Amino acid sequence: TTTPVNVTVTGAAGQIGYALLFRIASGQLLGPDTPVSLRLLEIPQGVKAAEGTAMELDDCAFPLLAGIDIFDDARQGFDGANVALLVGARPRSKGMERGDLLEANGGIFGPQGEAINAGAADDVKVLVVGNPANTNALIAQRHAPDVPAERFTAMTRLDHNRALHQLATKAGVAVNEVERLTIWGNHSATQYPDIFHARVGGRAATDVVDEAWLESEFIPTVAKRGAAIIEARGLSSAASAANAAIDHVHDWVTGTQGEGWTSAAIVSDGSYGVPEGLISSFPVRARDGRWEIVQGLEVNDFSRAKIDASVAELVEERDAVQQLGLV
Ligand code: NAI
Repeated sequence: TTTPVNVTVTGAAGQIGYALLFRIASGQLLGPDTPVSLRLLEIPQGVKAAEGTAMELDDCAFPLLAGIDIFDDARQGFDGANVALLVGARPRSKGMERGDLLEANGGIFGPQGEAINAGAADDVKVLVVGNPANTNALIAQRHAPDVPAERFTAMTRLDHNRALHQLATKAGVAVNEVERLTIWGNHSATQYPDIFHARVGGRAATDVVDEAWLESEFIPTVAKRGAAIIEARGLSSAASAANAAIDHVHDWVTGTQGEGWTSAAIVSDGSYGVPEGLISSFPVRARDGRWEIVQGLEVNDFSRAKIDASVAELVEERDAVQQLGLV
């Protein structure tokens, strides 16, 4: 028997948690040969609902699910964690200023970073989903000085998958015929979905769609998709967000195939002019449990301006949390 992998999920009683936990327990996160032990972290008010979800997980009789523990204490929740999915966050309430939002989340992600530093497994891999995801990941990472910085990532895979679908639909091809798309920058309205290197059914995407569509339809549709889901469903994206989290961690652990790539927000090494240390989305491949930034892509003037604008927003967020003493 293999030792189970400890997967900590925060915000376990939330809507993404509900869409995510069953997929983890069924083997879709780490593959069909890897048993998992779930560690659910909630705030005290969320514990009872998490217990209800745990009862349902039990009732699925998943062969790979080795155990479920529920905590309202970060130190306990992250103890021994091999994979940490940081989903729970403080949402922006009406009239809340950005500084207040960053401060409230600093109060969550700082202590969670400390708890990861104190007790997570040596190989811990962290994915931050809770918004503002990139900056929350930065806060957690800065509170975990003994964990290699590259283990802290934030999710832009949902944006990537949304972009894949939009481009495939426009080009009239299956989604698996689209490759080499990139989401750059922040998981926010400034994100830049880049099709200049993309291939659609083996052809250059720029030969298949025109630049007018790119500017007037594609970029705003991808950036505003979250709002469109809320408008239609009355609730924010949950199953698609959970799916993207599964994709991100599965690729990170098992590796991406071939010369294609995906998108993830990872710690910048200065590539493509993104200041070192920022957690920004890049074109990435995963090899041997590590993300690598795809190098050598030509960045045209159009892309440069869009990447710079999103990175400038990340710099502002970083400066704001520095000023607030959160990092
Ligand atoms: P939700 O409100 O349904 O659930 C959040 C859960 O987190 C609640 O059960 C709450 O009790 C819990 N929580 C709050 N503070 C916590 C803490 N300190 N420790 C542990 N748990 C805590 O929200 P939902 O829909 O599940 O979304 C979660 C987050 O994911 C939000 O911040 C949302 O903006 C973000 N999100 C990010 C996406 C991305 O692409 N990066 C996509 C969709 C959502």
